[in-house]
Amino acid sequence: MAGESSDPGPLIAREMEGGRLLFHPDRVSEPGVRIFDPGFWRSEDRIVGTHRGRGTVYVVEAGDDEEWVLRHLRRGGLPGSFIRDRYLWTGWERSRPFRELRLLARLEGEGLPVPGPVAGAVWRRGPAYRGDILTLRVPGRPLARLLEEGVAQPGDWHRIGATLLRFHRAGVDHADLSAGNILVHETRIHLIDFDRGRIRSPGNWADRNLDRIRRSAAKILGRERWKAAEWARCWEALLEGYEAG
Ligand SMILES: Nc1ncnc2c1ncn2[C@@H]1O[C@H](COP(=O)(O)OP(=O)(O)O)[C@@H](O)[C@H]1O
Ligand SMILES: [Mg+2]
Repeated sequence: MAGESSDPGPLIAREMEGGRLLFHPDRVSEPGVRIFDPGFWRSEDRIVGTHRGRGTVYVVEAGDDEEWVLRHLRRGGLPGSFIRDRYLWTGWERSRPFRELRLLARLEGEGLPVPGPVAGAVWRRGPAYRGDILTLRVPGRPLARLLEEGVAQPGDWHRIGATLLRFHRAGVDHADLSAGNILVHETRIHLIDFDRGRIRSPGNWADRNLDRIRRSAAKILGRERWKAAEWARCWEALLEGYEAG
């Protein structure tokens, strides 16, 4: 009986020309290929912002005070290479968009501060696929920007530590926790960009998440500056937040 099977979650999959779509029925009333096309949003004059990630990230006006973030999935490195946005096909449910969206749905359901899942697309072609993902826009600016501007306060770091502990208690290994993937808002912290994230049993991956933040911050500030007392205090604050959590 149903009791044995795992919760399928709120997302619904649907076939489309050239691929498959996964969407949240409460958020997407007309699921279709056009919602993944920046040209569609531009023609409707509904692009309200862009960010440079590994590619261009579009913030779009989805209506009723709701903004979505549209990303075409890309790997880091290999600039200009044609394989930059191709991934090896191993099945719909194992594709990055589907895994990221299903994970976000689960984490949102647990009340963790992540962007709610909107929709994802997987475009299959032979042994490869490309993917797009839409999530709800969350408030805040990347920790990376705050570091570049030298304005990340110990209080922010403390809240980041406390937030990270909540994820770790839920067994969430983000796997790519750079300062660009931590959004800092006055009262809230969100983690974003979960395309390699997963739920795991306890292990030293939790320490690796912390180490990833530290190395990312040191890289942005420069090793010498990172050693300054000001930043040592910030790192202490993060650890305190993590321990106090
Ligand atoms: N759901 C979201 N809400 C608000 N901003 C977002 C969201 N997703 C991405 N961004 C912005 O876009 C940038 C790049 O997005 P990210 O998901 O980290 O993609 P990349 O794969 O390029 O690292 C982020 O640093 C952030 O500024
Ligand atoms: Mg990122």
